[in-house]
Formats: sequence, structure tokens, C-alpha cells
Amino acid sequence: MQSVIIKEQQRDFNDKLREAALALKNGKLVAFPTETVFGLGANAFDDVACQNIYKAKGRPSDNPLIVHVSDMEMAFSLIREYDDRFIKLAEVFWQGPISFVLKKSDKVCQTVSAGLDTVAIRMPNHKIALELIKTAGVPVAAPSANISGRPSPTRSEHVIFDLSGRCDYIVCSADFPIGVESTVVDLSTEETVILRPGFVSANMIEEQTGIKVKSHGTDKTVQVPKSPGTKYKHYSPNARVFMVEQNFTNSDIDDFAKDKGVESKKCKFLEYQDDIQMARNLFADFRDADQEHVELIIVKPAKDGELLEANLNRLQKACEY
Ligand code: TXA
Ligand code: MG
Repeated sequence: MQSVIIKEQQRDFNDKLREAALALKNGKLVAFPTETVFGLGANAFDDVACQNIYKAKGRPSDNPLIVHVSDMEMAFSLIREYDDRFIKLAEVFWQGPISFVLKKSDKVCQTVSAGLDTVAIRMPNHKIALELIKTAGVPVAAPSANISGRPSPTRSEHVIFDLSGRCDYIVCSADFPIGVESTVVDLSTEETVILRPGFVSANMIEEQTGIKVKSHGTDKTVQVPKSPGTKYKHYSPNARVFMVEQNFTNSDIDDFAKDKGVESKKCKFLEYQDDIQMARNLFADFRDADQEHVELIIVKPAKDGELLEANLNRLQKACEY
């Protein structure tokens, strides 16, 4: 398969985006930018198209997909039940980097929800993504547009590197996205639980809506990963990754590398001063390190900020392998 690459700068961009949207509606796979990371989209009502997402990514079949919508009517078509929490949260945070897990309607195909009774829904805050979904006229199931296990793509070239030849269209964008995936919030039970931390933090939710939330970071009783994706290998570059708290001089790096049995020139130290910059660059820096055949990455994360929990979550997962 040859992927059609569509660039924002090209003169016939709008025509090509329309072509991609119609193809998407008719069962093709289209990678596209969002404000968090790039996604690999398929028609959420088309079971075969959604199965093809799993094939293209090499994704485990029990890990469900987030469905992207362009308006509330589309969102309501996907769900069976909701309460005031959904209305309030959607009003405050959509369009935006937050996904809500709700009891699904029969229209959502089996493959999207991987056998669960629920569906995760998100309305992205990105012009191209919204235009694509609106023109397709169907909700779009889209995981991050990377080969399963690799860092999520935050630049167009990452998508091309991982998925060229594996999907039908790749829509590029030169914007830098937030860089961590959406916050996933479970609204399908009485308790409101953050299943995956993201840009929208528990604090922001409580302050702006008064809704009390549990998150992995603040409540250790939430142990069983209800979000199946959280149990898999994730965000990993080829290099082994270690997190440190202190500054590293060149000689510290040499010592660390030696201790791990790696040549110092194959060791890279990444340091982030602020949380926004860390989110924006971490996955791209992991991928750059792979290109440079680095074997060991030492990361000193940003110490605070609203994105602290999301950043540490992604970094810890990368360190686990
Ligand atoms: O920002 C994002 O969310 C990006 C962009 C493309 O929108 N998408 C993304 O998708 O990160 P993905 O597939 O890489 O991660 C989806 C996460 C997984 O951890 C999955 O297990 C969880 O959402 N999820 C999806 N549906 C779920 C459901 N019904 N119940 C619980 N967790 C669910
Ligand atoms: Mg992913």
C-alpha cells in the first residue's frame, strides 16, 4: 500500500483533505494531527476498518480505541447513558485534550471497544482533525499514530516513519502539539476516576467543575488498570531509559554509562526545565535518540507544573522496559 501524504502548505490541501475524509468514511485509514499527538483514524461504525487499525499498528486486540467526534450530537450517538458530570465536563473542557469513558450505544462497533461495554470519546481541539471528522460525517476511532509500543508521534515525520505504507492517507501539520495524550476519565461508574493522566489534571477538573476525581497519582487504591492500554509496553525508544533527579556532568554520564556497560558516546542526557517543554519534546527526543543509535537515555524531568503527573507517567512507562 502506498500512503498519500497531504501537507498543510500544499495548494490543493482542502481538496485532498476532503478526499481523505470521504475515504475515511468508506473504510480507509487516515492519520491526522490533533492537539495532543497524531492519531490513526478509521470510521468507528466500520468494524473491518477498525480491525485494520490494529493490524497497521501491531496493537494488542484487547486495547480499545478512543472515538473522536466533531460535535455533541455525534458524541450522543455513541453512548447509552450519561449524567450531569458528562455535560458539565464536556462544556468546560471540550474541544480539548480529555476523553470520557461512558456506556456505549449499539452503534459503536465491537472492535472499537475491544469487548468492553463502554466507549472512550473525545472532541479534539484541532482545526484539521475537526474538519476531517465533520466532512467524513462519522465518528472517528483513532489511537496514537505510532507502531504499538513506540513513543507517540508528535511530529509529522514520526507518523511517516512508523506508518508510511501501512495506512491510506497521512495528513501532516507543522504545529507542535501538547505532546502527551489526552486525559482519560471514567464516567461509567459512580466514582469519577482518571484512568490515564494528561493535560487536564485532577486539580483543573475539581477547580473548574467542582467534580471530585480519583487519580492514580493521588489515590493509591486505584490499582487495577481499568484502561487496558495502561498495562502494555508504551512510549519506549530502543534505548534503555533511566530517570534521575540530580544534574549530570559529563563525567557523571561517563560513570553511569560505564556502570551499565555502555560506551559513553552511546549515552544521552536529557534535561527539562519546565513541564510544557518536557511534554512537547520528550517523545521527539526519544525518537531522535533512536536515530542516533543511542543505547542509554538518562532523563532529568521537569520538577513541577500542571503537566507533572502526565509527564512522569509517560517517563516511568518508558523506564519500565
Ligand atoms: O490524545 C489522545 O488520546 C490520542 C489522540 C490521537 O487523540 N489518542 C490516544 O489513543 O492516545 P491510544 O489508543 O493511544 O490510547 C487510548 C487509551 C488506552 O490507554 C486505552 O486503553 C484507553 O484509552 N481506552 C480506550 N477506550 C477505553 C474504554 N472504553 N475504557 C477504558 N479505557 C479505554
Ligand atoms: Mg497510544
